[in-house]
Amino acid sequence: MPNATHPDVMERLVSLCKRRGFIFQSSEIYGGTGSVWDYGPLGVELKKNIKDRWWHAMVRARDDIEGLDAAILMHPRVWEASGHVAGFVDPLVDCRNCKKRFRADDPRIKGEPGTPDAQCPACGMKGTLNAPRLFNLMFKTYMGPVEDTASVVYLRPETAQGIYVNFVNVQQSTRQKIPFGIAQIGKAFRNEITPGNFIFRTREFEQMEMQFFVEPGTDMTWFEYWKGQRMQWHQSLGLDPARLQFHQHTTEELAHYARAAFDVQFDFGGTLGFQEIEGVHNRGDFDLTRHSEYSGKKLEYVDQPNNRRYVPYVVETSVGADRTTLAVLVNGYREETVAGESEGRTVLALHPSLAPVKAGIFPLVKKDGMPEMAARIAADLRPRFPVFYDEAGAIGRRYRRQDEVGTPFCITVDGQSMTDNTVTVRDRDTLVQDRVNADNLRAVLEERLAR
Ligand code: GAP
Repeated sequence: MPNATHPDVMERLVSLCKRRGFIFQSSEIYGGTGSVWDYGPLGVELKKNIKDRWWHAMVRARDDIEGLDAAILMHPRVWEASGHVAGFVDPLVDCRNCKKRFRADDPRIKGEPGTPDAQCPACGMKGTLNAPRLFNLMFKTYMGPVEDTASVVYLRPETAQGIYVNFVNVQQSTRQKIPFGIAQIGKAFRNEITPGNFIFRTREFEQMEMQFFVEPGTDMTWFEYWKGQRMQWHQSLGLDPARLQFHQHTTEELAHYARAAFDVQFDFGGTLGFQEIEGVHNRGDFDLTRHSEYSGKKLEYVDQPNNRRYVPYVVETSVGADRTTLAVLVNGYREETVAGESEGRTVLALHPSLAPVKAGIFPLVKKDGMPEMAARIAADLRPRFPVFYDEAGAIGRRYRRQDEVGTPFCITVDGQSMTDNTVTVRDRDTLVQDRVNADNLRAVLEERLAR
């Protein structure tokens, strides 16, 4: 049976996600939109649970980070100041014969593009590849009714800039003292040249970013602190520690804004292997200084006790909500044989806090008062957490359907329930079933879900 590192797993996961309503291809009935995905009923819950865990850890559970929700459309000068207009580019080569486009560093290209020796990796023709040209990854659109250059705006390629331009607004309105952070969750857009691997690299995605403003000179201490915090957070989602590692950026890899950077990488298995899910960056005073230059506004912090002003340094943590969702799915996906049964089972071993449905509730058979009692239990639990009532088909199949979507517990009302008011609670991972009095069910589940 394949496990999560088997090359076929991604294919099986994509199929499960579609079949069970986690993730669908965007505009599928029109043939799909390239590398854009829609989250279905279970997927939207899973991703929301991941975002809630992040928001709780970064904003709610601390008193030194404030939340923000900045707009996607920003003043076009923002992207000149940030360096994205000039620097957020990939060198690309085009084939004059087959019209395919490649990144200039595509390892399949043999020879120097633009010379007669270079061979197209798609059609195999020699001498048809153009010399590399720079291609900006930002999506452009137009603000207002007239399509002239004065009204060009960009879809943000990162959420971070919305935080920098609001640094003074947030600091003054909250009266936070340095060190403090600003966090936000939101969509970002990149016209990626080589998107793919399901929701790993897409053109529209969600980021969960936090910018921590510190006194210059303390930045590397905070950088180390945030590396540790973020690695712990990924482990707290149930990601296997053996599948997580740091990768330090070399000088060549560093983004235009970064003084130092580490990626948190997750081992997706198969051909992907270890890949970035989060970046922790020391951005120095690059962003605030540039926005100050371009806007003409001071973006400083006034340290009143020491009677001085300075431009803070920024330590950034930037994690993809979609990429984390994929990591959680890959981490949890298992196909198993079950002792004493001919059919195996597919399980999504999701952390209970992330599972879209917390409990399946089933009457063993559709008679003798069992459906009524099961429906009463479902109605009692539903205001506390998402539950799924199911009375159709063999009980074994109902369990399998919940295993496949990661539901941690299944509650069954059977003949004995009618006489002693107990029900069975089946654990997704151990398959152990124990009997619990229906009156204590809510408390028992709350306790087990919090483990
Ligand atoms: N503000 C810094 C920044 O945007 P990044 O390393 O370019 O840094 C941070 O992106 C995270 O955003 C990545 O670790 C990844 O999880 C996510 N991300 C970036 N591009 C993505 C894409 N095309 N599709 C899905 N997620 C992406």
